[in-house]
This record gives sequence, C-alpha cells and structure tokens, in this order.
Amino acid sequence: MNNDKAQLTIEGKVYELPVVVGSAGEKAVDISKFRADTGYITLDSGFGNTGSCTSSICFIDGEKGILRYRGIPIEVLAEKSNFLETVYLLMYGQLPKVAELKDFEGRISRDGILDEDLKRFFDGFPRHAHPMAILSSVVGALSTFYQDEDCEDPKINELHCIRLLAKLPTIIGFSYKKSLGEPFIYPDQNRSYCENLLHMMFSRPHAEYHAPSVISEALDLLLILHAEHEQNCSTSTVRMVRSSKANIFAAISAGIGALWGKRHGGANEEVLRMLMSIKEDGGDVAKFIELAKAKDNKVKLMGFGHRVYKNFDPRAKAIKAACDRILAKVSLGGESQQLLDIAKELEERALADSYFQDRNLYPNVDFYSGIIYYAMRIPLNIFTPMFVLGRLPGWLAHANEYDSEPGGRISRPRQIYTGPEEAKYLAIEDR
Ligand code: ACO
Repeated sequence: MNNDKAQLTIEGKVYELPVVVGSAGEKAVDISKFRADTGYITLDSGFGNTGSCTSSICFIDGEKGILRYRGIPIEVLAEKSNFLETVYLLMYGQLPKVAELKDFEGRISRDGILDEDLKRFFDGFPRHAHPMAILSSVVGALSTFYQDEDCEDPKINELHCIRLLAKLPTIIGFSYKKSLGEPFIYPDQNRSYCENLLHMMFSRPHAEYHAPSVISEALDLLLILHAEHEQNCSTSTVRMVRSSKANIFAAISAGIGALWGKRHGGANEEVLRMLMSIKEDGGDVAKFIELAKAKDNKVKLMGFGHRVYKNFDPRAKAIKAACDRILAKVSLGGESQQLLDIAKELEERALADSYFQDRNLYPNVDFYSGIIYYAMRIPLNIFTPMFVLGRLPGWLAHANEYDSEPGGRISRPRQIYTGPEEAKYLAIEDR
C-alpha cells in the first residue's frame, strides 16, 4: 500500500492523485478519476508516458537494459530454457514441472493440423501475397471454425490458445509453400516445434528436410527472445481488441497486422532490404549514415532505436552472440558475407557517431535477427512471420491476463478535438 499522493494545481485548485508503485519500484500517478474530478484529460501522443494497465508478465528497465519474463532475466532463459518452456512460463506464470511440460508439448504437437476447408483459403490468395497478410487473414478465419464455442470460458480459451500455438507454424509453412507454388507439407508431430516448422517450410514430397541442430536451436533462441515485450504496439493492440470481448483469433489477427509495420516487427525484413540497397549502391556505408541522419528524407537506420531501450537492447546482445555462433558453423555465400560486413560497419559507425549517441540509438532486436534469418536461408518475407510466432505467447498471456482481471474495462482513449467547433451543412448545389 502506498500513501504518497501527487498534487496538481489547475485553475488555482489543488488536486491530489494516488501514486501507484510497481513491484520493481516503478511509479505512476493514477489519473483514472482525473477527468471526473477536474474536467481535464491527459494528452500523450504515441502513449510514450502512459501506463495502460498493470501487468505481472514482463518487466523492462529501458535505461538499464533489463528484460525479465515473469521475473526471470532474458539472458537466463536464453541460456537455459527452450521456446515451449518459455511459452508455458508466460502463459501459466510459472516454470512447468517435467510432466506438465511433456503434456503441454504433446498437446501442441498433436494439434498442428489445419481443417482441410481452411487449407482451401490459401488457394484464394495471389501467389505473391505477403505471408503477413495471409497469416493475419487465416488466423482471423480460424474463428469461423471454432465459432460455436464460448470464448469467455477460460477452459475453452485455453484450448484456443493451444490451437493457435500449434497451428501457427503450419500456417507459416503453408504461406511459404504458397509463395513458391510448391505442395503443402503437413506437420510432423515427432519433430520439435522448430524442427517441425523448418520441415514444413523446406521439405518437399520427394525430398525430406532435416534441419541441422545449429539452425533449429538458433531459431528456438530467436523465438525465446521475441516471446514477450509488455505494452508494445502489437501487444497493446491485442489487449485492446480483446477488451471489446472479441474472440482470441480476432485479437491475434489484429496483433499480426500491428506487428507487420516497419517501425515494429517489419523492421527485420527492412534491415535486410537496407543492407541490400547499400550493397547495390556500391557499399558506401558512410553515405548511408549521412542519409539516415538527414532530416529532409524518410530514411532511417533500420534496426536502430527503440521507444523503451535508451541504453542497449538486451535481446540484441544475445542475438549478436548467437549470430557469431551460427555464422561460425554455417558457411555464408559471398553475398551474405558482404551483407554481414556492411551490417558490422554500419553498427560500428553509428555507435561512434554523435547523432546516434546523443539520441541513445542502439541496435535493437531486429538488427541482427534479420542477418541470422538470412544466414539460415529463411526467405525475406518470412522474417516477420517468425517474429509473429515468437510473440504469440506474449500476446496470449496478455489477452488472458486482461480476461482474468475483475472489472476489466473496454479500452477507450480520449482525444483533444481540433476541428471546427460546429460547421454548417451546405446543400450539395450550394457547395
Ligand atoms: N535512424 C535515424 N534516426 C533515428 C532512428 C533511426 N533508426 N530512430 C530514431 N531516430 C531519431 C529520430 O529521427 C528523432 O530525431 P530528432 O530528435 O532529431 O527528431 C530521435 O531519434 C528520436 O526518435 P523517435 O522517432 O522520437 O523515437 P520513437 O521512440 O518514437 O521511435 C522507433 C522508436 C520507431 C523504433 C524508431 O527508433 C525507428 O523508427 N527505428 C527504426 C525502425 C526499427 O528498427 N524498428 C524496430 C523497433 S524494435 C521492435 O519493434 C521489435
């Protein structure tokens, strides 16, 4: 219980506002009754300083570069856990016992198959449809297959979560096969989560693919590092959609749309496109840095900067270490090596440049994840779907946390209106 109060003076009158303190000492001023008491709202474009909820899932200290899932540091999970164990931790709030994890893995591996009618949806998309668009549509369409079930029943909701975790790799695999015009490969429940995804992407009916362990383990690590990141754009979207009591498939489909943008999850694809364009332009890294600093264009150094991390992104550190490990074992073609060299020079120059130093711009999770995916021969348009797969448990955990809150309200921010106060309607012939 915290007895501190914040005081605010408006029009000569002093208002007292409750102070809320989180378990790691984070402080907030509770303004939920502020408008009712004062007639004022608070204005915070981009929600840079707005807490939309309390949550026990993830802790970030952006100044110190700390990220913890359910209290466990990301570095520890990266070293000791695996993706499905981390999913369990996020969803159920604690690490599973041996039997619990086995049961959880079994449920997911047995539910990877898609309804054959859902499979036919893929026929309707054009060959070159971006897989993110397919993902968002097909995940939304899952709700048409499970529509009679009561989404507010926690048991049924849990079943839907398992279905999403199980079927998303299949949807990603099918999306990729669609873009190649190759036959779909069905899930194999005898492979691990990541091996199965790589199988559905790279096996062919006449040539089975078995991912080298360095590749499937690297993918597993990337998924852990992407699994949760509190109130980012896509997670806030999922919570917001869920707050209207929409079903979980609709909420996750909306989250996928939010993640797609290049300022968010789409940045991993954009990093590679940036490296390729620098290479095509003769590899002049210094010229690109100047372009990214200039204010008369829209060029940004993709994979740099973060709303929350103003020191370093702990995920980028872990990814960079993994990147070095993988690249030592995976032989890079000439082009990949050139792209990697450009990335290293970009990072070096940017970190030494006062523009990036003054603005606390450091490599984020997407700077190196794109390079790893590229080295793993993951196609460019599947980079962001990989992020979706990683982030799904975080989204589900937040949707479930929202559901379990007594009296959770529909998300409904306010605004300050700047249009004409009252305008006249002119008949069409008089305009
Ligand atoms: N390259 C060049 N300049 C940058 C960059 C960048 N990557 N990022 C921020 N800046 C500059 C801005 O132009 C601004 O400069 P100014 O103060 O002179 O106007 C200053 O740094 C502050 O930037 P904001 O845009 O206010 O930062 P914000 O927190 O709103 O945005 C974001 C964060 C979207 C991540 C931004 O840094 C960016 O666009 N980065 C590139 C895209 C990217 O890598 N996104 C992935 C983020 S991680 C994730 O979502 C998984």
